[in-house]
Amino acid sequence: MSLMSLIAALPKTELHLHIEGSLEPELMMALATKHNVSLPYTTVEEVAAAYQFDSLQSFLDLYYLGASVLRDEEDFYCLMRDYLQRSHAQGVVHCEIMFDPQTHTERGIGYDVFMPGFCRAIEEAKQNGGPSVLLILSFLRHLTEQEAIQTLQDAKPYLDRITAVGLDSSEKGNPPEKFARVFEQAGQHGLLKVAHAGEEGPASYIWSALNTLQVDRIDHGVRCLEDPELVEHLVQHQIPLTVCPLSNVKLCVYEKMEQHPLRDMLAKGLNVTVNADDPSYFGGYLLENYQALVTSLALTREEALTLIRNGFRASFLAPEQKQYWL
Ligand code: HPA
Ligand code: ZN
Repeated sequence: MSLMSLIAALPKTELHLHIEGSLEPELMMALATKHNVSLPYTTVEEVAAAYQFDSLQSFLDLYYLGASVLRDEEDFYCLMRDYLQRSHAQGVVHCEIMFDPQTHTERGIGYDVFMPGFCRAIEEAKQNGGPSVLLILSFLRHLTEQEAIQTLQDAKPYLDRITAVGLDSSEKGNPPEKFARVFEQAGQHGLLKVAHAGEEGPASYIWSALNTLQVDRIDHGVRCLEDPELVEHLVQHQIPLTVCPLSNVKLCVYEKMEQHPLRDMLAKGLNVTVNADDPSYFGGYLLENYQALVTSLALTREEALTLIRNGFRASFLAPEQKQYWL
């Protein structure tokens, strides 16, 4: 059996996935037509051609533009349904999915619209043998902490459907400590915590996410390699890092996949997982990320098994559920 066939056949997790980043050009165009939204693209090919990024911000600009076609409950249902169908087909059995409430509430679309849409698709997947899903409410870090606090307050009627809070959007200049109070409040509500750190921002942001926000996991975290003391800390405490290889190359964190340090990270004993981030923008879902590692980094069978196992270890599943998969 080839290594890719083995990876495809094994049950896997997805721990770093922005649902808005799974909006495929076909659905985007269909929803733009449905709601009469004007986009700077007229065909699916033009959408795909526009996805050339030179930084995180250049991607975020198109990501927020794309999300502007999501208007009613059915749109959010379709978005989640399509993602879960695709991930199910790739052997993903458990997903922890980020959504950005502020991307929608800023446009006047509330929790009462997107949460029922997401939850209907999640329930349906469960009935049909699809992946289990936990939701992560992500704050937009380019906005103020006060706005994040409001976003958490607005989520109160839905907290039983939300497992964790996260922190995403423009990293540089928006350090984790800006959100210390809202993360503390989230903790008081019993929510777990993750944060993007050390993607474009410096290793010091990873320290801040750990020490100030007390996160359970770091999203990306690849720039930890610039700080040996931090690497030692991450290894010692086995803090999970949700690494997204195709994303890192697409957003120019590394020039080429051949330069991606994922294998070095594993060799150092870091608790690395592989994830898709924004699959429709970055050229692939989970299996395409593994394919890139196999092709460009000559990932070994042993490393692939470690990565897949780490995904379950790093998940927010209850210990007995983890044990089932491990
Ligand atoms: N980084 C930061 N913010 C994001 C990302 C990302 O990779 N995807 C969606 N929002
Ligand atoms: Zn991300």
